[in-house]
Amino acid sequence: MMAFSSFSSNGLAFLLLLAMALVDSARGCVFYAGGKDGWVLHPSESYGHWAERNWFQVNDSIVFKYKKGEDSVLVVAEQDFDSCDVSNPIRKLDGGDSRFVFERSGPFFFVSGAPGRCERGQKLAVVVMAV
Ligand SMILES: *[C@@H]1O[C@H](CO)[C@@H](O)[C@H](O)[C@H]1NC(C)=O
Repeated sequence: MMAFSSFSSNGLAFLLLLAMALVDSARGCVFYAGGKDGWVLHPSESYGHWAERNWFQVNDSIVFKYKKGEDSVLVVAEQDFDSCDVSNPIRKLDGGDSRFVFERSGPFFFVSGAPGRCERGQKLAVVVMAV
C-alpha cells in the first residue's frame, strides 16, 4: 500500500513536470529589444545588429521597454516601415512594457510611434524562422 502510494505520487510529479515542459516550449523565449537599453532613439547596439544576432522562432516574444507616454511601438507593414509611415499601424503597443508574441513565421516590422523617431532610426525588423 505504502509503495503504491509513493509510486503514484512520483508518477504524478513526473506528469506535472512533463506538462510544465510542454507549456514552456509552447510559450517560447522572451527577447528584450535593444538589450539593456530598451526601446530608445540611440541604443548602444543598433536594432538591426541586435536582430541579426538573435534567432527568433514562433511563440517567442519580444518586449519593448520605454517610458509610458513618451514612446510607443507600432507594428507596421513593410512599406510603412521603409517610409516611416506611422498613420496606419497594424497594432499599437503603448503600455511602456510592451510584449508582442510572434504567432507566425516570417517578417515583422516595428517602428517608434513617437514623432520623428522612426526617421531617425528607431525601427526594428525581425524575421521569425519557420519550424
Ligand atoms: C505555439 O503555441 C501554441 C499555443 O500555446 C501551440 O498550440 C503551438 O503548437 C505553438 N507553436 C509552436 C511552433 O511551438
